[in-house]
Amino acid sequence: MIDNHINGFDKQQWQDSIATKPYWPVLKQMQDQGYKLDHNALYRGDSFKTLTPRERYFYPTFHTNSLYYIDAVQAQSPQQVFDIGCGMNVWKKFYDNVIGVDPQDPRADIRLDFDRFKQAYIQSAYGLVDSCISIGTMNMFVSIKFLLQNLCDFIKCTKIGYRGYVTINLCGMMSRGTPKEHKEELFGVSNPDAEQVSKYCNAIVEELPGISIIIYDNFITDKFNEYMDGNLRLVFEREV
Ligand SMILES: C[S@@+](CC[C@H](N)C(=O)[O-])C[C@H]1O[C@@H](n2cnc3c(N)ncnc32)[C@H](O)[C@@H]1O
Repeated sequence: MIDNHINGFDKQQWQDSIATKPYWPVLKQMQDQGYKLDHNALYRGDSFKTLTPRERYFYPTFHTNSLYYIDAVQAQSPQQVFDIGCGMNVWKKFYDNVIGVDPQDPRADIRLDFDRFKQAYIQSAYGLVDSCISIGTMNMFVSIKFLLQNLCDFIKCTKIGYRGYVTINLCGMMSRGTPKEHKEELFGVSNPDAEQVSKYCNAIVEELPGISIIIYDNFITDKFNEYMDGNLRLVFEREV
């Protein structure tokens, strides 16, 4: 069974290196505009009323941790990085090659849901798209029973030799997406604890075919970060 963290987020290292990043001027400008930068992996999430939770938390504190993982995707110099379920399309501020895809949010560059995006853009393993990222979207109203299938579908959107990044919000997935019968079928109880869910997810990630794991962080048993950035985070490289 894989560990909860493989090359995982290290706050101190991240904090020490962030001023050397190409997008530091953007962060600096945000600071000048009154934003406080938060370099933690996790932070407290409360209930939200906006379309996406990031809008709820965007100001006055900007949480930088996603940049750590997206940097690993950018290391292979993809021509484009499609951000599936981009919401307010925030990562575009930091990287010229990010293209936001979202069925609902008018700030998306492409107004399509994931299925229609796949139909339109993914033609073959060597098709049009170098890399895809998706932060807290693959869990939307979907049962954990389909996690393996959904991750496999997502992985196939990145070209062989390139990297992708996907995060899942297990709190949302378990409370809103997974019916009682699926929990009973998978875990033997209708209210599995975080430890059981965490082990189940590690087993699925270990089973994912055709990838190598570049970064993996499983924060499912941690207390915070219920609503944003995902508590299961995977940067992979597609091998076949
Ligand atoms: C929790 S928000 C995450 C927003 C963004 N990734 C971020 O981190 O700020 C989920 C987003 O997924 C979008 N969404 C919902 N169903 C989707 C689907 N089937 N395909 C793609 N995006 C979807 C919603 O419109 C919403 O903007």
